[in-house]
Amino acid sequence: MTTVGFIGLGTMGQLMALNLARAGTDLVVWNRTASRAEPLRDAGARVAGSAAEVFTGSQVIILMLANAAAADAVLEDADVTGRIVVHMGTVAPEDSQRLESAVRAGGGTYVEAPVSGSRVPAAQGALVAMLAGDPETIETVRPLLAPMCRETIVCGPVPDALTMKLATNIFMLSSVLGLVEAFHFAARNNLDLHTLRSIVDNSQMTSDISRVKSTKLESRDFTIQGGAADVLKNLTLVAGAARAAGVSAPLTETMHRLMEETVVLGHGSDDFTAALKALEARDC
Ligand SMILES: NC(=O)c1ccc[n+]([C@@H]2O[C@H](COP(=O)([O-])OP(=O)(O)OC[C@H]3O[C@@H](n4cnc5c(N)ncnc54)[C@H](OP(=O)(O)O)[C@@H]3O)[C@@H](O)[C@H]2O)c1
Repeated sequence: MTTVGFIGLGTMGQLMALNLARAGTDLVVWNRTASRAEPLRDAGARVAGSAAEVFTGSQVIILMLANAAAADAVLEDADVTGRIVVHMGTVAPEDSQRLESAVRAGGGTYVEAPVSGSRVPAAQGALVAMLAGDPETIETVRPLLAPMCRETIVCGPVPDALTMKLATNIFMLSSVLGLVEAFHFAARNNLDLHTLRSIVDNSQMTSDISRVKSTKLESRDFTIQGGAADVLKNLTLVAGAARAAGVSAPLTETMHRLMEETVVLGHGSDDFTAALKALEARDC
């Protein structure tokens, strides 16, 4: 049986690794903040003392880390020789290419596997992974991702999965932030928010994410699912990639400003629907 390593047990990673453990994967995990590994120990995974130890003891190592700097930190002391590194976090496409070169120079192989879906799909094992890399390595990795993902879709060579992830983010974020603005507009016009939610949830506009977010917006429940600071990071990546390619992305620029304001107001650790507070702060 392939031993899988999992590094990064944050908001997403912990739920994803738990699904691997529950599916019977031979799993060794590590997280910088050790306490976050305890639920994995309870679920039967081995907890390593360092990231380097995960690499020593596994053939396939999944990274679900905050950003490229975290991936750099974890790979710094790692022996990747003969290992497959599966990078599931969201980073800039050029950072992913750089990481691929570093892994290849160290004698390993690298697959991009960023995911669409936040806490609810992560808990349900219903994420959609976008895969990029060597086709043969992708087919080796694919079955290992099954307990976490409803779909694994091949996008081409590195960094096409990351670029694809940024494209999907434009659609997902504009639809949810559109919903935030709709709730704000309705509230300021003294409309009943439960009625708004019923209409949205029963119309052709509805989606899995709109139902989750409309419930949160009606009750002003900003507990984290997709964090505002992480959304700002993602929009910074999209805006940067658009500018670099000379692509117009006016919605991205507007959303970026709104999420910057949300984080400056102190809501970086809240769900990104807290953008509602930034809209309220803009009102005269
Ligand atoms: N949340 C979502 O809805 C969502 C959806 C799709 C994709 N993503 C992407 O998936 C990735 C993880 O997201 P998340 O929401 O799980 O983030 P998160 O809750 O902030 O977790 C980040 C993880 O990275 C670790 N980390 C950060 N800096 C580190 C460093 N220098 N060295 C070692 N470990 C470090 C953290 O360790 P500690 O526990 O010690 O802080 C934690 O395990 C991000 O790239 C995000 O953009 C998120």
